[in-house]
Amino acid sequence: MNLEPPPYFEIEDLYQAFDGQAVLQGVSFKVPRGRTTAILGGSGAGKSVLLRHLNGLLKPISGTVRVTGIDIGAFSERQLRSIRRRIGVLFQDGALFDSMSVGENVAFPLREGGERSAKTIADRVEEVLSLVGLSGQQAKMPDALSGGMRKRVALARALAPRPDCILYDEPTAGLDPILSESITHLIRTLQSTLHITSVMVTHHLASMRYAADHVVFMKSGIVRYEGSVSQFDQSDDEAVRAFLRADAMAISPPTSDKIESS
Ligand SMILES: Nc1ncnc2c1ncn2[C@@H]1O[C@H](COP(=O)(O)OP(=O)(O)OP(=O)(O)O)[C@@H](O)[C@H]1O
Ligand SMILES: [Mg+2]
Repeated sequence: MNLEPPPYFEIEDLYQAFDGQAVLQGVSFKVPRGRTTAILGGSGAGKSVLLRHLNGLLKPISGTVRVTGIDIGAFSERQLRSIRRRIGVLFQDGALFDSMSVGENVAFPLREGGERSAKTIADRVEEVLSLVGLSGQQAKMPDALSGGMRKRVALARALAPRPDCILYDEPTAGLDPILSESITHLIRTLQSTLHITSVMVTHHLASMRYAADHVVFMKSGIVRYEGSVSQFDQSDDEAVRAFLRADAMAISPPTSDKIESS
């Protein structure tokens, strides 16, 4: 009998398209439990779209998403909400509620989850704000924050309800090198101390090397590499090689649609 628990996510043959344009073209990979998986790829590769399938925000045209072994394809909105309570998300643009203060933003998922004690909420809000280096910033409004601060507030909001999995979309984009390093370090620490399963979309190879255990590389909606960080550097896939070459030259990896589809 196999007693090993299933991976956190098992993605099988996922297809997605918008306006007749294919975005995911048969994507399959696994996200091991309690580990950090990096999803890499150039702009427009389909990384953000893929991430939105993991917690059922988008439904695939075909293919399967299993969360801890359970196919969520036929889940009702109510069942999806319970899945989403376990999976925190840091969206690419932060997606804060602009009419709410920092403290209210971070408290929001706690209230949604049924927490009623004002003290418990206030303590947890301060705890996660201090984790991201924003202790005492509860009263600020989002439009008074820099891009990097917004991102960190969004991360605090994702962490607040103690999820067992967090999806990060470009957690370090737009941050200065010091903040970028501290967020990458935090992602690593969450994994190593709390065993949170993390999926980190990034095109920042240094963050991937520091924080990730498992790598999925995509181009044009197709997985071109899945495996360990060390084997990634050895991959002979042409798209992986081009990505690594561009990074070594310290220029952005292929970004235009022309390059992406060539
Ligand atoms: N809701 C949508 N409607 C139509 N097209 C969409 C939608 N969402 C994404 N796309 C298209 O899907 C493709 C993949 O987008 P996606 O945001 O997943 O790229 P990405 O890999 O995250 O890129 P980046 O690194 O720039 O964030 C793009 O061509 C994009 O225009
Ligand atoms: Mg994206």
